[in-house]
Parts: sequence; structure tokens; C-alpha cells
Amino acid sequence: MTTLDRVVGAGIPRVDGPQKVRGTAPYAYEQDPGEPICHLAVVQSTVNRGRITRLDPTRAEAVNGVLAVLTPANAPRLSGDLASDLPVLQSLDVHYQGQIVAAVVAESSEIARDAVGEVVVEYAAEPPDVALSVDRPDLYAPEKLMAGFDTDSVIGDVDGALASAPVSVDVTYSTPTQHNNPIEMHTSMARWDGDSLTLWDADQGPHTIEKDLVAAFDLEPDQVRVISPYVGGAFGSKAFTHPNQILAAMAARVVGRTVVFELSRQQMFSLVGHRTPTIQRLRLGADRDGRLTAISHEVVEHTSRISEFAEQTATPTRVMYAAPHRRTTHRLARLDVPPPTIMRAPGETPGMYALESAMDELAAELGIDPVELRIRNEPERDPERDVPWSSRNLLACLRTGAERFGWAGRDPRPRQRQEGRWLVGTGVAAATYPTRRRRADCRITAYPDHYVVEIDGSDIGTGAWTALAQIAADALETGLDSVRLRIGDSALPFAGGAGGSTGLASWGSAIVLTAREVRRRLTGEPPAEGLVVDGGFDGSTPAAQTHSMHAFGAHFVEVRVDADTGEVRVPRATSVYAAGRIVNARTARSQFLGGFCMGVSMALHEETVTDERLGHYANHDLAGYHVATNADIGEIDISWVEEDDPLVNELGLKGIGEIGITGAAAAVGNAYWHATGLRVRDLPITPDTYFR
Ligand code: MOS
Repeated sequence: MTTLDRVVGAGIPRVDGPQKVRGTAPYAYEQDPGEPICHLAVVQSTVNRGRITRLDPTRAEAVNGVLAVLTPANAPRLSGDLASDLPVLQSLDVHYQGQIVAAVVAESSEIARDAVGEVVVEYAAEPPDVALSVDRPDLYAPEKLMAGFDTDSVIGDVDGALASAPVSVDVTYSTPTQHNNPIEMHTSMARWDGDSLTLWDADQGPHTIEKDLVAAFDLEPDQVRVISPYVGGAFGSKAFTHPNQILAAMAARVVGRTVVFELSRQQMFSLVGHRTPTIQRLRLGADRDGRLTAISHEVVEHTSRISEFAEQTATPTRVMYAAPHRRTTHRLARLDVPPPTIMRAPGETPGMYALESAMDELAAELGIDPVELRIRNEPERDPERDVPWSSRNLLACLRTGAERFGWAGRDPRPRQRQEGRWLVGTGVAAATYPTRRRRADCRITAYPDHYVVEIDGSDIGTGAWTALAQIAADALETGLDSVRLRIGDSALPFAGGAGGSTGLASWGSAIVLTAREVRRRLTGEPPAEGLVVDGGFDGSTPAAQTHSMHAFGAHFVEVRVDADTGEVRVPRATSVYAAGRIVNARTARSQFLGGFCMGVSMALHEETVTDERLGHYANHDLAGYHVATNADIGEIDISWVEEDDPLVNELGLKGIGEIGITGAAAAVGNAYWHATGLRVRDLPITPDTYFR
């Protein structure tokens, strides 16, 4: 496939860039259905658990401009076996604070929001149970973790090996509840034409949303069309259907007009999921040379009363380092909280924070450089599956990163460097993320002067519009300007959503395989009406059975801490990745950079505070929930090593959307220790941390 080298790899600017800059790329809220749009606003439960005892919509119904007030008493019945919180307005029971208990449809958003305040709701409530701890008697082991991972994995005699290890660490880390905060709020605009529904939606996969709407309204797939060509950022909360899409469709059906429902920033804290808090006990045993003899990683996290979401937090520990005795476990508490969901590298993000922090503590205990400690524990094969790696270049990332960052000669002792008020330290941590792909269909139509490539892929801001066009151009042996790509629409051939860093690998494989068929069938000039080829990728990757497939990386970070105020800065960092073939150097850099910045944000800013008495999230907007901004980010040096992996997929690429965040918070925490001598094991690290 030498032709693949023609456009793939080049740092081509985003093909959708000009429309986005000019404001002509239509997002869900900006669609024009050709008629005046109605607006929807919701009444949300003020209690975490209980039952509605009185719900009076009379005053709201009387507000001028209100078209309907939907409550559990009058809302149309939904059908289907819907997940967790999707049966919106179907019952008087309340399972979490912020649950939708009524909805107002009105001529304007102002009228709808005003009328929401006129709906009277009373509850019989029980006290909220929202506090996670390791000694709750009701902790349980889920049957499986998300993505099908085993709940526990135990190899060898872990406790015996830990007890007899000459050097060990036994430490517990905690990470807080975090919330997805893409810039674009979740938005759904619904219109019915007879029994057919169109939903313009901000999501990560139109087919995923379509499936739930089909089930909820008892329709056939061809009666529902979900359209999401442009999405203003998404990190997981837009991957699955939430009550907002169901409710928008329900309301549009009731009033017989187009209805738009845009969540407020505050509503996003209860209605579209969050990252579970975690409590993680890490025990590492090693010989005096730093060779690990035992690794134990035990995770406690939460899920909601109405759904089981089991984050796969300790799974990266199953692949990172060699050790004969190993244990990873996950336990859940069912709390009166909204259903948790995925958020950029669910599992790997909190898990690698704890593992990579513990490795740094062990390095200090041993007096071994933390880069060297990782090199000494590099596993030749997958340490739990006992199969070879399709490719693994963690050591190249560590060595290249150390070189680019200027790691050599670092004084291993903490709190050795002060410049004026600033305590200065450096830290390192590794990154990893699994390489997977999923079934995807594709249709390519060859015309005399261009190709139309159709697949329900999603560009959630990643650059998929551009990277997929590059892949198609090379696979069809044509130029970029001869490719007309269509994505983000459930009327297009099936594809799974943008999630699990599987997008480009899945959709790209489908495009490459379909393009091969096009070239095989095309003998001479295509007909004027076009030669249509339906193809795709069937979802099977035989090499995944015989090989372990993961991307790796390494972060090196400098941290400065103001000894008077406790202010923490990250003035510079170096991240190096080994993630197979890089399709677009420009958008890939942006993904790696964005992931890393989100890791800095996790380390220093992001924390949703739960009021354990009243049961609500105390900080539910961007004033109270801090997300790193430009001013928080210093000079970040992003690069990658060449990696040729023909086993992972047709293109040799590994997903890159999530790996950047993994390990990043640990690198910051490790550098914070090196600067100050303080080990912080509870994120985030804030100015007051220094004075605790
Ligand atoms: Mo990503 S958390 O798999 O949407």
C-alpha cells in the first residue's frame, strides 16, 4: 500500500476550518427546520431519592406563550427496554438530584424558563446517600467492567510477595467526581413529519442515538434520522443517549412542531453523566534493584442507583509493567447520584494517575531514577495475557522524552531547587491506551471527476473530516479535492460513534476496504450516474487474539510552586507518543496536546464537590468548576516516534484521542513532590494544598 503515503501523514489544515471560522458550519442549535422553533425547559428534582407527591402545572400552563407542560401524568408512554435514566417523565420516582420531573414547551426559551418556575412540585424524600468510602458495607463486585473487562484479575501470591518484598509502597490515592465540559452544550432539535423523526443533535455517534429513539418511540430505523455534522467538542458525555434527546423528540410530537432543547451549563452537571470518583489502593513490592515482584491495585468507585457503570480503572495496570504476582480489583457503591458515564479515557485516566504516582513513590524509596525504574520493569510480552505486543515503544518514548526535556542530571532529591519564591521540580509518568476498532459500513460512489465517500463517522472537533478525506484520497489513488466526504448522519452507512479512540481505525478501515473494491471493480471511466460500491469493515481483528495492542507515551513536566501563596504553575512539558501511523500531523498534535492539557486540568483544577448533607453538586458551572484555560498552560513540546504496526489495522494507526490525558496528572503530581517534598494523593492539587 505504498500509495497510502501520499496524503496520509501530511499536516493538512482542517477541511472544515474555513466554515467553522466563518460561522457557516451548522451546529445542532443553528439548524433551520423551515418553521418557527419551539423551546423546551425543564423542572429538575431538588431531592436525590424519593417520590413526587404533588405536581401542579396549572400556573405554568396559563403563562402566555406556553404550548405544553409535560409531567409524568400526561407525558406519552415510551416503549422499549431503555437504559437507566432514558425513560424520562415515565414515573413519579426520583433517583437523583437534577432528574427531569416536568418540561415546558413554549414559543421562546425565555417563556419556557419563566414557566418552569411556575410548576409546583412536592416530594416525599429520603436522605441522600452520596458519600463514597472504602468501608461501606454495600460495596459489591460488578459482573464485568465497562468495555467487557474482567472485574478482578489475580495472578500468583500477591500478599505473600508483598510481605516478603525488600522494598514496598502501600499508598491510597483518590480522584474526585469530574464533569465533561465541552464548549458546546448538549443540544437536540426535533421535528416529526408524520411518524418520522428528524433529530439534529450534538453527539458522538448518530447511529447510537438513533437506536435509542427507535426503541423509545417504537419505530423502525428508517423512521428516525439523527444528524450531527458538526459537534462543538465531546469527551464522552455525548457518546450515549441522555434524557435530553428523548425529551426533545417527545415534546416535538406533543406540540406538533419543531422543538429545540439546549441544556444549560448547570444542567450538564446532572443530566449527561460524570466521571466517577475513585479511591485506589496501590501496593508495589520490588527487589533492591527495582524489579517489581508484586503489583496490587484495588479500586473503589461509585455508580448510580438506577444504572451500573463500572469504570475500568485498574485495567492499565494489567499491561504496564512486568511482575510475577499481580492483582487488580474493582468494587462499586450504588449511590443516589446521576448515572456516571465515560469521560476521556475512562479507566486509564484515574488508573494511570494512581499507578504512575505509586511508581514515582517507589522510585524515591529505592533511590532509582523514575525513568530507569520503568525501563527495568518493561515487560517483553503482555504480562497478563502472555501474548506478544503488536508493537510497544514505551521505552523509546521515555528515552526520547528525557532527551527533549533535558532530564539527564536531575537531582533525585525533592525540594532542592528554588528560584526566588518559586520551588521548582520535575516529574515523569507514562501513558497508555488500548488500540481497538469496531465494525463500520461504507459506501463509495465513483463519478467521472470525483468520489462520494459516505460513512456515519463523527467529527467531534478531532479533525476526522480531514483525516478521513486523506485516507479516502490515498486509498482511491486520487487527490483530496476529488473526495466528497459525508459523515455525521444516521442515514449514512452504519458506523459506531467517536469513542474509545476507535474512530479513525474503524472508519478508516471501512474506507480503505471499500476503496479497494472500488478500484477492483472500476475498469476505465466510471459511468456518469456513478458506480456505487457498498463495503466496509466487519469488525474482526484476528491479530487482536494473538497480540496485545496498545499505544504508549511518556510525559515530562516542570512544576513551579510559589512558596508564599502555594500557586502551582506548569511552565513546560514534553510528551512523546508511540501510536502507530500518524494520519494528520497537525490534527494529531492537537489531540495529544488537548489530552495533555486535560490532564493538567485534572491535576490542578477539576473537582465537582458533592454536598454530602444536601446531596447536590455545589459547583456546577465554569465559575466554580475550573477547567484549565490558555493562561494555565505553558510550553508543551509534543512529538511521536515512528512506529510501524501492520497488525492493528489496514492503516497501521492507533487511536490518539485519549492517550494524551493518561498519566499526565501523575507527571504533574510527581513534579509537585519533587518541587516541594509533599506527596499529594488526593486530586486536585490547589494553592491551599501547600499549607495543609
Ligand atoms: Mo471517549 S470517553 O471513549 O468518548
